[in-house]
Amino acid sequence: MSSASNRRRATRAEPDGPPVERSGRVWRIRSVDAARQVLRARRATRQAGFTAEFVPKGFLKHHPILMSDGPLHDEQRSKVGRFFAPKVVAERYAGLMDAAASARIDALVGEFDLAEVALSYSVEVTAEVVGLTHSDVEKMARRLVTFFRQPPADLTRPDLGRSPRQWLQAAVNGLVPIVRFHLADVRPALRAHRRTPADDIIGHLIAQGYTNADILVECVTFGTAGMVTTREFIAMAVWHLLTDAALAGRFRDGTQAERLAILNEIIRLEPVVGHLYRRVTEPLEVTCPAETVTLAPGDLIDVCVRAANADPETVGPDPLALRPGRELPPGVDASVLTFGDGAHRCPGQPLALLAADALLTRLLARAPVVVREPTLGWDDLIEGYTLRDFVLRVG
Ligand code: HEM
Repeated sequence: MSSASNRRRATRAEPDGPPVERSGRVWRIRSVDAARQVLRARRATRQAGFTAEFVPKGFLKHHPILMSDGPLHDEQRSKVGRFFAPKVVAERYAGLMDAAASARIDALVGEFDLAEVALSYSVEVTAEVVGLTHSDVEKMARRLVTFFRQPPADLTRPDLGRSPRQWLQAAVNGLVPIVRFHLADVRPALRAHRRTPADDIIGHLIAQGYTNADILVECVTFGTAGMVTTREFIAMAVWHLLTDAALAGRFRDGTQAERLAILNEIIRLEPVVGHLYRRVTEPLEVTCPAETVTLAPGDLIDVCVRAANADPETVGPDPLALRPGRELPPGVDASVLTFGDGAHRCPGQPLALLAADALLTRLLARAPVVVREPTLGWDDLIEGYTLRDFVLRVG
């Protein structure tokens, strides 16, 4: 399984370099081992990705989970963790994913844009887990994608490399979708939950005394962190499967464990979030095989996920080949760093993978053919790929 055709599709010119590289006050980490030391260094760093350092939080009682750090963050995570445990996802949401996947795939006729199907499906599944179930899924999906219409940002620069005009545009482009999302999706869900408590994330946040503003911000986090990433991954997985007959055959005939190994290997090669950032808050020693370096408070760490996921020290030879079930050192996840590591590790991995599996299994059973390969783009906020206009046809 190592022909050129099944190598990384989302290619982008990124500077190659050593496992740990310093450039001024920015440390670029491309080694899995060093990245895990950094991401697991509790208390010595804080979240600096997703423009977290520029998001005003003063008006909130609780900081959004993605952007908070320290003991409060640990507590937030352990409380929502029960909605995302692999067993819970498999038992509680399997029926929901099956129904949402079947409804979409059974209704397909002729040509369709897979990027749109993947978006509406990912939004529906995540919305159920979160409790955003009192508005129209298709319209909510449209609202969520507008969060990503942001001017370019370079997280390694103190002003993100934006002009004052671009900052103004960022504020408007950020706030308008939040107000719309609040009025159309979050407010109706909050009202319904306050009338009839439900066992979902919104229900849990209400029980924990979160204010409406806190809950809105958390819904934005889950909406963008969960729904939009899963959408891109589904499109990428379909692109690999439909252009590699042997891989598609393995997927179709495989057990669920084998299918998940294929999906994990695709997402290792094609991480949706390309870089993770942390700001150093206390001196931090990182050992990479050849040397030990000390990162100073104020330094910025850029974990280059795309490079690290192809680190031959961890993933072995031919790191850019798609080889499901490749041998990895003990303790390294099959997707390597695609879902992060340490304090902010993504809680949504089981949900994303099982949701993708449910949709892809049904889609492949309808033997779709590619009419038009997707257009590859890049998103600055998650530093990851976007796939659009991916036209398929079913008989
Ligand atoms: C293919 C799909 C997904 C990918 C690639 C992905 C990736 C990631 C990554 C890399 C992080 C860590 C960020 C960091 O360390 O700075 C993260 C965090 C997070 N993800 Fe995901 N994610 C996916 C799906 C989901 C889903 C389905 C949900 C939930 C519905 C979700 C919810 C979250 C949340 C709440 C966080 C913040 C956790 C924290 O900061 O403590 N993600 N995700």
